[in-house]
Amino acid sequence: MFAKEVYVRRRATLLAKMREAGQQGLILFIGNAEAPAQYKDNCYKWRQDSTWLYFMGLDEPLMAATLDIETGEETLYANDVDIDDIIWMGPQPTVASKAALVGLARTQPYAQVDKDVYAARKAGRHIHFINPSRYFNTLRLMEIMGCARIDRQVSRPLTEAIISMRLIKEDVEIAALDHACDLGFQMHSAARDAIRTGIVEQEIVGRMEAVALAKGWGVSFPTILTQHGETLHNHGHAAVIEPGKLMVIDAGVESNEHYASDFTRTYPTSGKYTARQREVYQIVYDCNELAFSLSKPGITYREVHLATARKMLEGLSALGLVKGDLDEMVAKGIAGLFQPHGLGHNMGLDVHDMEDLGENLVGYDPDQTRAKQLGLGSLRMARRLQPGHVITDEPGIYFIPALIEKFKKEGLGYDFVNYAKLESYYDFGGIRLEDDILITADGARRLGPQRLPISPDDVEAAMAQ
Ligand code: GLY
Ligand code: MN
Repeated sequence: MFAKEVYVRRRATLLAKMREAGQQGLILFIGNAEAPAQYKDNCYKWRQDSTWLYFMGLDEPLMAATLDIETGEETLYANDVDIDDIIWMGPQPTVASKAALVGLARTQPYAQVDKDVYAARKAGRHIHFINPSRYFNTLRLMEIMGCARIDRQVSRPLTEAIISMRLIKEDVEIAALDHACDLGFQMHSAARDAIRTGIVEQEIVGRMEAVALAKGWGVSFPTILTQHGETLHNHGHAAVIEPGKLMVIDAGVESNEHYASDFTRTYPTSGKYTARQREVYQIVYDCNELAFSLSKPGITYREVHLATARKMLEGLSALGLVKGDLDEMVAKGIAGLFQPHGLGHNMGLDVHDMEDLGENLVGYDPDQTRAKQLGLGSLRMARRLQPGHVITDEPGIYFIPALIEKFKKEGLGYDFVNYAKLESYYDFGGIRLEDDILITADGARRLGPQRLPISPDDVEAAMAQ
């Protein structure tokens, strides 16, 4: 948890933004509850809602809060423990003392939030809430608001105010993200050092996640570790590691402060890339470097995505896999056949920061619309870059036989794609290379004290050690 002043200032800023936007009424926040995995007392690992963490800091279940836009009054709704709780949990600090840690002066029992919101609604006041990230919170909002569906009542002004704040990371958050990236570096280093042919992928996952658990909250998303990198989010880890393959490891640590890291490296399972693997790897590496060098205030990340798409097509053209005018190929979306995802996403308290609030609201400026094209259409962060943005730089090249066959069957890209040659890549797999970057006043810097080895020579040297 950060210092009390951080949360006090954030809530004051939020209220000021809502007033500036001409809004009135109550802001209602619902924290997460425990989520049973099989039965009530055996729950999934506890994780607080990220927007709640951002404004309230309190990392405990079953809390709610209201902020009164007109009066500025802030109320925390939570229950003090009783003797039944103490038997199982031990003595706990009072709600009032927890509230004081984050500068909340007024506390009420949890059930009172329903009554206070009901009274406010009866008095004709507007209730602002955001799209809930979990079903429990959807149900709670339905109960509190007394209606069968709440999606049409989600407050756009509140959502936009929160996004505008969380998109620009504060100094304390940047320090927390640097720390999460340091833990991510350690986790990935452990993984790289554990790669051996003949062992099951799961063994490496276990070693990696041990680092995440020993040093932080755990992983920031389910680990992707696979010799079938052409399946973008491959969560199966049952395969035995074979020689001569490429292994994509896309994983991150969530720190104890709940900030994420998200790195991807692609390793040769035998310790050395084959000539063909190296050729494709170099293209992805060049795209990663190009994205970093272009990222600075003023440019849009959509432009950066398209510049890397062009670079990728240039490299694939040199390999004879595509041919034609590069700009025309970019415009026609040919790069999407090889990279059917976007260049990157926002990162912060969530690995894909705030996507629960709406991908387009988070990742697109009001004057931008999301493309429909394969690849560009999956770009989750397109905005004009500003200092304080934290984004991922994650180009990839994948040879997905089913997708290539579909393109071919539908006659797509026939003028540009060398389908005959592509067939010899059907067993290639995929390559993705991902760093986390902070936009600064005049450019960008990679987060974390050290960068994971990424050039093919550096990766091979690290694996040889
Ligand atoms: N690293 C996983 C993702 O960005 O979706
Ligand atoms: Mn990512």
